[in-house]
Amino acid sequence: MTATRSLAEKLARPELINLTPYQSARRIGGQGEIWINANESPFNNSDIEQLNRYPECQPPALIDAYSRYAGVSSDSIVTSRGADEAIELLIRTFCIAGKDSIACFGPTYGMYAISAQTCNVAVNALALTDDYQLPTDLVQQVADAKLVFICNPNNPTGTIIDLDSIETVVNQLPNALVVIDEAYIEFCPEYSAAQLVEQYDNVVVLRTLSKAFALAGARCGFMLANPDIVNLVMRVIAPYPVPKPVADLATAALSEQGIALMRQQVATLIEQGKLLSQALSNAGAQVLPANGNFVLAKFDDIAAVKQQLIDAGIVARSYGDARLADWIRFSFANDKQTQTLINVFQ
Ligand SMILES: Cc1ncc(COP(=O)(O)O)c(C=O)c1O
Repeated sequence: MTATRSLAEKLARPELINLTPYQSARRIGGQGEIWINANESPFNNSDIEQLNRYPECQPPALIDAYSRYAGVSSDSIVTSRGADEAIELLIRTFCIAGKDSIACFGPTYGMYAISAQTCNVAVNALALTDDYQLPTDLVQQVADAKLVFICNPNNPTGTIIDLDSIETVVNQLPNALVVIDEAYIEFCPEYSAAQLVEQYDNVVVLRTLSKAFALAGARCGFMLANPDIVNLVMRVIAPYPVPKPVADLATAALSEQGIALMRQQVATLIEQGKLLSQALSNAGAQVLPANGNFVLAKFDDIAAVKQQLIDAGIVARSYGDARLADWIRFSFANDKQTQTLINVFQ
């Protein structure tokens, strides 16, 4: 009798099902005082403990800290080099090159498409509606995409899709993985879909410490998904994706104190963002509702605005995408920087 296969196993690249992951020295482990099984140096030349040793593949202290923070059990979490690596891991775990496809709803974060293309996986680049929601005929449009990426809040629009709409899509697509990218969720935590991970076998949530936690330089992200998905992704992930100093920094950022600091900074940034959005609106720009740490604004005379910003030494984000030709995205900044920016528009 064959055991029932999980959805993750049905969707995964078939060659992964019987693959034994690389047996790193760390994974094999052992007992004793003298560790000479990984061709490491016995000399630690750093103040960081054990820097001469390979790190854990999934540092338990970091995973536990994220589990407490996100309210998701430890066996439903993978940590990676930023959310970007998690995007690529999903594509490499589930999509057959030259055959499978992903879907995403634009304008949105560019790495879903780029990552897929670098793996020779087709991209079904769909459009959000005029009010930046998911299309009502999403199921037909998505067709047989293995992974359906929904960025929420969406980068670069800053707009949000409510949890009921996300859950509807999850129910409508029982044979695909619905990947909700919550890189900016700390700025609107009430919209998080993290709890769906334990209810549905086709939900994946992506998170990062790069935004609200102010650790973009550390490269630390998380994938939340049911243990069957985690198990398959762990066959594809590099043996040591998270450097030891990063794991230490990230674990500290996820301490009670670290989370309190993050929340305080998020509140400050949201206030600065409101001031900026108001100033842009007063200056005649069309300003989208900002649910992340940035605001997207449309200008009548975009060339003049770009020149004003250059003259003031302000580097904001403009786009090559024709749909966004008249738009500029401004990340929220500190008090002084925000005032400088507001002065440009007064
Ligand atoms: C929506 C979205 N997802 C993922 C990322 C990548 O995050 P990380 O820095 O964790 O790789 C970004 C970065 O800008 C983003 O905007």
